[in-house]
Amino acid sequence: MTCQRLRVAIDGPAGAGKSTVAARVAAAFGLPKLDTGAIYRTLALFARRSGVDWDDEAGLAGLAARLPLSFEGGLGEAPLVVRLEEEDVSGAIRTPELSQGASLVSRHPAVRAALLPVQRRLAEGGVVAEGRDIGSVVLPDAEVKIFLTASPAERARRRRDELAARGEERPLREVLAEQTERDQRDERRATAPLRAADDAVVVDTDGLTLEQVVERVLGEVARRTGRTAARTGGTR
Ligand code: DC
Repeated sequence: MTCQRLRVAIDGPAGAGKSTVAARVAAAFGLPKLDTGAIYRTLALFARRSGVDWDDEAGLAGLAARLPLSFEGGLGEAPLVVRLEEEDVSGAIRTPELSQGASLVSRHPAVRAALLPVQRRLAEGGVVAEGRDIGSVVLPDAEVKIFLTASPAERARRRRDELAARGEERPLREVLAEQTERDQRDERRATAPLRAADDAVVVDTDGLTLEQVVERVLGEVARRTGRTAARTGGTR
């Protein structure tokens, strides 16, 4: 049986639903997922704990080069466990503060350069990778590139609901203001800004159900590679 390597890049702004869609697509093809935002979040946490400022490019690049990060699980829909040294930081990196921290540390070219080989190595055997610059920079030759987006209001609503599900009630206007700040920083930075790669398919998820979005992505995989999903619900 020939089994060609498949790399699916899913980029887009905060709250576009990248993680959920990536998990479903990864499950459909029995692939691992790579959450590149988690890498920047973990670096922001590591910096905070090491007393390195989020503005200190050289200090951050030094930490990035020896970031003691590992991923566990994460095959298909199985939850991804993020470890900093031995510690499970999967929950700790998801706070609004570390969302901003990740966006701040990711602005620095030296940080991005240090983390590029790490991401490429993790994607080697085939992957569904999500982030901001996967299709444009990290995996420019990915077989399939998707740019997921939705209106700012819709994305903020989803983020608020996600936070509420974790017991953190936040007013919608605060979530929207933080999201706008982060999107603008991610879009305007000089190195590897958030943007759709020229050959990415843009999927606007406003008014679409998760099932419909997953169908669109699976359709795109089939169109570009001829591959159809082996399974549709979780890994077995
Ligand atoms: O996807 P996320 O919200 O967990 O990402 C957190 C921040 O990390 C995001 O605001 C910008 C940065 N990031 C990036 O610059 N490049 C990526 N490929 C992924 C995330």
